Amino acid sequence: MNIDVAERTVFITSDNRRIGLSPDWFAAKVWPMGIQSYQEFVLRMIVPQVSDKSSHEKEIYPKSFGWFLKKLITPEVIWHMLRESDIGFTKSKRMLDIGTGAAIIPRVFKLLGICDEVYGVDIQDRSIDLPDQKFSEIIKFLQIKLLSDQQSTLASDLLKRGDGMTTWTVPYGLLLDADLSRNFTMDGYTVSDFMAYDPGGLTFDLIVTYSGMSYFKTDEYFAKISELLEPGGIHYVMDTNFYHVYGESMELPMDAPWLHARVSKDDFLRYYEEHRPELKPYIEKGYFCQDSHYTVRDVIKRAQRHGFEALAYRRSYRQSELEQFHYASGENLNFILKTALEDCRIQNPNVEMIDLLTQNWTVIFRKQ
Ligand SMILES: C[S@@+](CC[C@H](N)C(=O)[O-])C[C@H]1O[C@@H](n2cnc3c(N)ncnc32)[C@H](O)[C@@H]1O
Repeated sequence: MNIDVAERTVFITSDNRRIGLSPDWFAAKVWPMGIQSYQEFVLRMIVPQVSDKSSHEKEIYPKSFGWFLKKLITPEVIWHMLRESDIGFTKSKRMLDIGTGAAIIPRVFKLLGICDEVYGVDIQDRSIDLPDQKFSEIIKFLQIKLLSDQQSTLASDLLKRGDGMTTWTVPYGLLLDADLSRNFTMDGYTVSDFMAYDPGGLTFDLIVTYSGMSYFKTDEYFAKISELLEPGGIHYVMDTNFYHVYGESMELPMDAPWLHARVSKDDFLRYYEEHRPELKPYIEKGYFCQDSHYTVRDVIKRAQRHGFEALAYRRSYRQSELEQFHYASGENLNFILKTALEDCRIQNPNVEMIDLLTQNWTVIFRKQ
């Protein structure tokens, strides 16, 4: 993909910068899961994610066997990073999983003996998406199939999948050997907005948020985590990168690369009013990140104000994007460095080029 698309019109920012707009860039946006338009993306993907069941316009979360097989990689990704970060984490007595969804992370942690008691909270009741019986059957299937598969057909299929976000582990290394006679059931699944979550006096020594921190104001989020976490407790958080070219999972359609990060949020909304008025109401719903213009280093600084120490962090990139877009030509790199990055620094002087290229980030914190 080439960034150097003919500029046909201009957006004037409130600090009088002229930003070239190109409908070609807008038209080049592709959507996940066969979705055809941003309007459809917001209604099918974003609205259900950030609201309770009553306001669902459509169910989005897949419940297929294949989807859950793929998702089973996530807890192993988390466990290996916890262990290999050399933070002395060996086991948790009680964990909480925020935005737990089908509760795969906590149940796998309990099954593997990583946690004794496991709790989850989600604004929607997704506890029935994968009942215990089916959870156990999928793992059994995985064990039998992979260990007896002569042609490695399932293995090669699974290797292609990954969890799509942080594929830095060998799939199913632990689950292949898991003892399914162990108790892995949830000790609690609460349907609640995390900010209103009341665990009835329980505290936790491990709290995980895998894709969900950006639904909250960062400061309020860390204040709440601090309330629930025991001193010395660990918080593992993986989230979407605001500075990704489309605002990562917000998937913002724009007439210029990184426009959401190059102008203030007010200007960004005004751009839609002036140039894409039909999208404005959808952007108001789809721009779900509660904070804007923040890097992973800003998250770490805010966490420090609430008594957290960052012990380890990691970024992930989409290889195809690096190859086909960012590093596809010197021209693209020049645009990123000279135009996009300089504009972004007007909003946040601490942004680095690496922030513009990152898809997701993960940080492990300890409460002091
Ligand atoms: C992207 S999914 C991630 C699910 C799960 N952590 C995983 O890795 O599969 C985000 C989840 O956060 C939940 N969620 C959204 N807003 C929330 C809120 N305010 N409080 C609690 N959960 C929320 C959604 O219902 C959804 O299940």
